[in-house]
Amino acid sequence: MCGILGYTGERQASDILLSGLAKLEYRGYDSAGLAVLDGGTIKIAKNKGRLKVLEERIKSGEEISGTCGIGHTRWATHGEPSDINAHPLWSDDMSVVAVHNGIVENYREIKEMLSSHGYGFYSQTDTEAAVKLIDFCYKQEKSPLKAITRAIKQIEGSYCFVMLFRDYPGEVWGVRKDNPLIAGQGQGESFLASDVSAILQDTRQVYYLDNMDIVQLKKGVVRFFDPEGYAKHKELSEVTWDAQAAEKGGFEHFMMKEIHEQARAVKDTFGSVYHSGRIDLNEHGLNDDAIRNISQIYIVACGSAYHAGAVAQYVIEDLAKIPVRIELASEFRYRSMPLDKNALAIIISQSGETADTLAAMRLAKQNGIKTLAIVNVVGSTIAREADSIFYTMAGPEIAVATTKAYSAQLIACYVLAMQFAKVRGTITENYYNSLIAEIQRLPEKIDEILDEKLRLEEIAGRFVNARNAFYLGRNIDYAVAMEGSLKMKEISYLHSEACAAGEMKHGPISLIERGMLVAGVMTQKSLYQKIASNMLEAKSRGGFLLVVASRGCEALKDEADFVFHVPETDEHFTASLSVIPLQLLGYYVAVARKLDVDKPRNLAKSVTVE
Ligand code: AGP
Ligand code: GLU
Repeated sequence: MCGILGYTGERQASDILLSGLAKLEYRGYDSAGLAVLDGGTIKIAKNKGRLKVLEERIKSGEEISGTCGIGHTRWATHGEPSDINAHPLWSDDMSVVAVHNGIVENYREIKEMLSSHGYGFYSQTDTEAAVKLIDFCYKQEKSPLKAITRAIKQIEGSYCFVMLFRDYPGEVWGVRKDNPLIAGQGQGESFLASDVSAILQDTRQVYYLDNMDIVQLKKGVVRFFDPEGYAKHKELSEVTWDAQAAEKGGFEHFMMKEIHEQARAVKDTFGSVYHSGRIDLNEHGLNDDAIRNISQIYIVACGSAYHAGAVAQYVIEDLAKIPVRIELASEFRYRSMPLDKNALAIIISQSGETADTLAAMRLAKQNGIKTLAIVNVVGSTIAREADSIFYTMAGPEIAVATTKAYSAQLIACYVLAMQFAKVRGTITENYYNSLIAEIQRLPEKIDEILDEKLRLEEIAGRFVNARNAFYLGRNIDYAVAMEGSLKMKEISYLHSEACAAGEMKHGPISLIERGMLVAGVMTQKSLYQKIASNMLEAKSRGGFLLVVASRGCEALKDEADFVFHVPETDEHFTASLSVIPLQLLGYYVAVARKLDVDKPRNLAKSVTVE
């Protein structure tokens, strides 16, 4: 869960590394560091804290010149964020210097083995054990490639290592297992990076590394090897998306910019499957026979992607009448549940790199279950390993708290639900057509909500000092309440809990105190009165009722303390609208608390560790 970069070419490596790492900082930001190899010497600068601390040190003259180097922004797993634990880490004689993303699970055994050969350790990281193991192998093999192939046979866990070997000037080496790494090819220079956004300003020509690929960079040359050290051919791809998409474009935060990009994300995601007046999922490996044969669906994901899956569960079951189980990937992977071979596993992930989600998908595949991945990042591991792929078209998402990718995931789920329903004959042609028309109206309705965002800024001020909140809903509204609550807690640090409204009286209601925020989502007509009763139970115990409701909903209009109406839509699609005010509420509370909205504490954008 960190940002990794490697560069070799004609330009000063530290400049390239600092500007590239700035684009990767969303992946991890508790420490930053870089190493530059210059004429047989490796110089290292690293520290605890944000990249800008490192940048200031280097700009104010710290000597780190050279045209070949590696860089890192860390999200600590082993050892607290500190100067010494920051990457790069080095072998004692500086023969090998490396940055690492992931976890070396058997680092204790490796350390023990190396200690018996006289190695000492200066950091608390798992990474140092691996770096010294590579050094140990290198001392015997005298070749970076052989050292890497030998070391990776002994390293357990997930990793991406990017390395400098002191005696190989102008070369950067990399290897990946279950953590992302791409290579970029420029004119007389080449790059390694955790994702393409870091190198887009320099090149659009990239290679996507497969699991266990080893890569060697020389100036303008990129070579690949398999884990046994045999040379391997890879195809170059051209990145088509716009570098500007990863810039803030006038907004104060990426999150607000991305909130505003939701209409486009929705439109583009639907547009990617809707051609000449019809939805076509053949490209996604779902022909009509395959759809008819689905016996049940497992949706597997983490965090907000799981919340999108929770919405999908209601929508698919209601429209297509297929039983759906929604599973947290981190639980699914360790359960021994009997799996149905005729099921379809839908894997949802913005990054396509989430370790638990990837492992869960592999488990489903091992069990002979067909996997369909809904992924945003092109070329990511989940996208490449799934049997079929439905790309969401949200574009690069930088803020740690997801907004537009979640909205795009909802659209992918609606499309699947509609298509399954149509093919299996559970909805009429007319209704299907009206759903298509309605999905096309969502973008303008989202923008309509955004026009009223200042109302939410105003009400957010009231919760600057709040300590707890509840988000309530039933059915799809409960799934949205989960997402709203996560948005609030992850960026504003206000403890909040989502609760199925009917469950409040079974325990959680005892937590309600005077003035506590109780946000209710009300978009399902048949449940208006049910949720209203649960909200009133909270109000009579002192709760401050904030209601997000569809325009036609009159329930609680007199009793609620604040009502925000969203436009009406088909009831299966309401999550796409009701989530917007909840995203804004979380955002404005975080801003009012003067917090770092885009990079909340303790989190990282891409969770590549378990
Ligand atoms: C969302 O705001 C969170 N940052 C987080 O829950 C995220 O959705 C989760 O980590 C899953 O990530 P993925 O979609 O990249 O797999
Ligand atoms: N496990 C390593 C550490 O704690 C790497 C963490 C990361 O991916 O940033 O230093």
